Amino acid sequence: MALQPPQAVEHPVHIVNPALDDYVLAHCTPADDILRDLAEETRKALPEHTVMQISHDEGTFLTMLTQLTGAQLAVEVGTFTGYSSICIARGLAKDGQLIACDVSEEWTSIARRYWDRAGVADRIDLRIAPAADTLRALPTEETIDFAFIDADKTGYPVYYEELVSRLRPGGIIALDNVLREGRVIDPACQDDADAAIRAVNDTVTADPRVTSVMLPIRDGVTLARKRVSS
Ligand SMILES: C[S@@+](CC[C@H](N)C(=O)[O-])C[C@H]1O[C@@H](n2cnc3c(N)ncnc32)[C@H](O)[C@@H]1O
Repeated sequence: MALQPPQAVEHPVHIVNPALDDYVLAHCTPADDILRDLAEETRKALPEHTVMQISHDEGTFLTMLTQLTGAQLAVEVGTFTGYSSICIARGLAKDGQLIACDVSEEWTSIARRYWDRAGVADRIDLRIAPAADTLRALPTEETIDFAFIDADKTGYPVYYEELVSRLRPGGIIALDNVLREGRVIDPACQDDADAAIRAVNDTVTADPRVTSVMLPIRDGVTLARKRVSS
């Protein structure tokens, strides 16, 4: 059969029918007042940036992943106003720690207030600097149990590499926005962010150090689990 030329893709592509997305959210353990207030404050204070905040079902998924990995040490790349960091911190094992990476003092000042309210401030070590620098400065031993990547898309290949080498066997990296609202399958989309996400998606799939799966949660979440040698 002759190959068809690639078709243009309309954006955004809804991976899941929006009505079903609402249904999914309605059948997730509800957010508590703290997360609800944080979402509301972010919406009011930063309306043009609210889209960056993860959804509550994704946040609940992060808490579960953190719990399931028994995470003592977690790393987040991209904190914004703190929604995902609270979800991860809540899943940490006793005396666990989350290293949160961001470049914005302004946005993370909102996060700090909500970390206090959620009672997780003592578990979170916020590092304000380009995340590549923060990650490269971490010890090189395989000690990270769980990591979440949700920052500038062009940085993903570096963040993945710096994190996977420090991940303990059995540890998990979750990468957000791996479908870029369908841009990954649209050959017309060739900006630096599109290219970086395609590159990291291919790298993860081919990486013999991990097993991986791409999940159609919101804008796509890849889980990469470091192999445990037998
Ligand atoms: C999509 S938002 C993160 C949303 C967050 N996970 C949440 O649940 O609300 C991306 C964040 O990455 C941060 N960021 C952008 N470039 C960065 C870089 N080079 N190093 C560290 N953080 C960066 C931005 O300041 C922004 O807060």
